[in-house]
Amino acid sequence: MVSRRNVLTAAAGATGALIGGKAALAEAAEQVAQSGGETYRVYEIGEQKGPETLRMVERPVPAPGPGQALIKVVSTSINARDHGLISNRFPIPRGRRPDTRIPISEGAGVVAAVGDGVTQVQVGDRVTATHFSSWIKGPWDPEQSYIGDIGNNIDGWLAEMALLPAHALVKLPEGVSEETAATFVSSGVTAWHALYEVARVKPGDIVLSLGTGGVSSFGVQLAKMSGAKVVVTSSSDAKLEAMKKHGADIGINYRTTPDWGQAVIDATDGHGADIVLENVGRRTLDQSLTGTAVNAYVVLIGTDRLPEQLPKMPGFYMKNITMKAISNASVEMLNDMVQAYGVSGLTPPIAKRFSFEDAAKAFEYQREHDDIGKVIIQHT
Ligand SMILES: NC(=O)c1ccc[n+]([C@@H]2O[C@H](COP(=O)([O-])OP(=O)(O)OC[C@H]3O[C@@H](n4cnc5c(N)ncnc54)[C@H](OP(=O)(O)O)[C@@H]3O)[C@@H](O)[C@H]2O)c1
Repeated sequence: MVSRRNVLTAAAGATGALIGGKAALAEAAEQVAQSGGETYRVYEIGEQKGPETLRMVERPVPAPGPGQALIKVVSTSINARDHGLISNRFPIPRGRRPDTRIPISEGAGVVAAVGDGVTQVQVGDRVTATHFSSWIKGPWDPEQSYIGDIGNNIDGWLAEMALLPAHALVKLPEGVSEETAATFVSSGVTAWHALYEVARVKPGDIVLSLGTGGVSSFGVQLAKMSGAKVVVTSSSDAKLEAMKKHGADIGINYRTTPDWGQAVIDATDGHGADIVLENVGRRTLDQSLTGTAVNAYVVLIGTDRLPEQLPKMPGFYMKNITMKAISNASVEMLNDMVQAYGVSGLTPPIAKRFSFEDAAKAFEYQREHDDIGKVIIQHT
């Protein structure tokens, strides 16, 4: 069971409890009474008009049901999908997202209680979880996005406690902090999937990673972990320099070098990229293909749609290029990535940290700034 002292500590200092109308107030008051008065603070997406309409409420602390674990959240971080979600711009398959949905797809914390039948974790374990919580291993099935997408069609991490399906949890080894793990689940493990599952990156490979966003930052770090050489593109010379500090070997400004695909070939002594992390889509695919090496993998990650007409593909057949789209990652892949970070001792770039109370400011900051690295919310 949940420790009453911990829960009361978490609930202490709660601000402006129960925003959301008389009916919601009465319902919540009844639930609090039923839970013996133990409450915790959560953010709900509310009217979904952006960070401004996030609302903090108190809820009674739930007892985990069969197969569930209750996590005391330590850190979360924000991805593009979370911005879409709190602004009603992120599609939800089959149904409507309730305004009580708790957002944020990636986080980490400590198991506080487990329900019947849970064998994967025990109280005290430090954990994170995939956001497609039902995709344990094996190939992708689109059903994964219809059921159990944490922070989308089931409640997410932006709370003092998170009630999650235990089968999605991954234990953290020594050397991987909750803050580091809280950055892995969306963009991070997608880059892992692309490099290590699809393209099987190896020492000496040339990896082209587009842009300087979340996926690309992890793409650079993970590719370097394998001994690859990394080319990164950006609209900003300053960001290219920053990416070099995080491990990139070659930077190409796609604004000042519109034919950057050929520039990749030139900068790699005519070889081109063995692996392309296609983090954009429609606007970049023709140049990405231009920049490939023979037998390259082009992993389609960016959700900016694909071109309506396929671009000119110079040498596509003779180069024997493999293109594959991916959707995030399985629990097994996340576990592999977590273990790799445990061994490497690396930490991802962090742009800025905010307190739990300032979660809306964290969203606003990320919306208004273009920093490299993750925006973190510290829950404890
Ligand atoms: N398939 C999946 O499972 C999956 C998972 C996570 C994310 N995604 C998608 O992957 C994409 C990237 O996600 P993210 O989290 O990294 O986004 P992000 O942090 O918002 O970064 C987007 C980056 O795209 C770069 N960019 C924009 N136009 C570009 C162009 N023409 N050429 C090269 N780079 C360009 C920008 O780089 P500069 O500012 O340096 O120019 C920017 O940093 C998004 O579409 C996201 O929805 C897909």
